[in-house]
Amino acid sequence: MGKKRLYIRTFGCQMNVHDSEQLAALLAYEGYERADRPEEADLIVVNTCSIREKAAQKVYSELGRFRSLKSLKPGLRIAVGGCVAQQRGRALLVAAPHVDLVFGTHQLASVPRLLNLCGHGGAGVVETAFCDRVESLAIFAPPPHGTVSAYVTIMQGCNNFCAYCVVPYLRGREQSRSGREIIAEIRSLADLGIREVTLLGQNVNSYGVGTPEGMDFPGLIREIGAVSGIERIRFTTSHPKDLSADLMQCFREVESLCGHIHLPVQAGSNRVLVRMNRGYTREGYLDKVQRLRDACPNISITSDIIVGFPGETEADFRETLDLMGKIRFDNLFSFKYSRREGTAAMKMTEPVAEEVKSERLKILQALQDEHTQERNRLSIGRVEEILVEGVSRASSRHLTGRTRGNKIVNFAGEERLIGRTVRCRITEAFLHSLRGELQLPEA
Ligand code: 5AD
Ligand code: SF4
Repeated sequence: MGKKRLYIRTFGCQMNVHDSEQLAALLAYEGYERADRPEEADLIVVNTCSIREKAAQKVYSELGRFRSLKSLKPGLRIAVGGCVAQQRGRALLVAAPHVDLVFGTHQLASVPRLLNLCGHGGAGVVETAFCDRVESLAIFAPPPHGTVSAYVTIMQGCNNFCAYCVVPYLRGREQSRSGREIIAEIRSLADLGIREVTLLGQNVNSYGVGTPEGMDFPGLIREIGAVSGIERIRFTTSHPKDLSADLMQCFREVESLCGHIHLPVQAGSNRVLVRMNRGYTREGYLDKVQRLRDACPNISITSDIIVGFPGETEADFRETLDLMGKIRFDNLFSFKYSRREGTAAMKMTEPVAEEVKSERLKILQALQDEHTQERNRLSIGRVEEILVEGVSRASSRHLTGRTRGNKIVNFAGEERLIGRTVRCRITEAFLHSLRGELQLPEA
């Protein structure tokens, strides 16, 4: 019998991208090889995101596209996982009857078993229960050959209940993986040639609660800092209220911890921050940023901001712009507020008009572009350490890699440098990348 082919379509965040990689690793044991196109597949998995309305809508149009494939190839199976699957459950089968399996955010490890329950031509299978111990966190996905960077899930779920956010409802409460298990996984990755790990969780700063080792997040970082072969540690996402002085201290102490932090502020007005239930003030956030910069002078700081949260006035919005002016983020992900079922903000009155949201987003993004350019230009003349990731998309004679601050650098170099750490002098700065010159000796 020939190999079975698997096509995965992933929406949403890094967490979902990593979940898809883990699922592919798991299904490889069941004889599935990756297909590049849905037309070649025996099994299509759609890994969905529900953080904003637009992301959730895309799932239905994508599923519609796969319906015709199924009529051409009756043996084809279609599975839907991730946040939309968790949220919609059986209703998804009603809306898309050609779907064979709907699996929730805690069901990753059960997918092979659930697929076996799917009868050909019978009714679809739905499993969206939450588990106490999330086995899915422990799936080891060997990185693709030649890659130097890997994700490691250290926790999942969220206990914060920010007023706009569906995550606590769809990913469940916080659960941390055992520290011993995480370290063992990172050692295996290092043995396979991985040089950089990105620790993943909805709120990595509160890592460690309920684990057998009782190690907190700074403790975990220090342990990973001692794993030989791992040159770079990154993590995402951090909640400002849980960012401790001890974690700041790690930026001074742990050589492999990269100088970059993604620290979503969401809004610059205290009135909005309270309504969002964020648990910190504008002043508290500014203070933490200052202390981070004291601990790690060139640290890159990136953030998320939502415009048009219910009740956001023009004055509130100005405060957000003012905060951006004070901080000057290296990069920013900005969104128009989107109403999500089940969240506290759904019940809030005073919606902001769609045109006002769009206008505010435009103003905010134009300001951020200026700040991104300005921050990128600060690198010109500096010699940066670059982990070389591959050949540049723009030119085959150029390589591409990232600085410790997570900025993309393109430079002329030979392919044999891929996977190595080199030094480049930064010569030019653009909005989305930097250009550099390789410094000799290479490493
Ligand atoms: N509307 C708009 N943006 C949202 N985010 C989360 N929920 C919503 C929502 N309902 C944004 C936040 C978060 C990022 C991952 O997505 O900024 O940090
Ligand atoms: Fe959502 Fe807030 Fe949890 Fe982030 S911290 S996942 S925004 S509830």
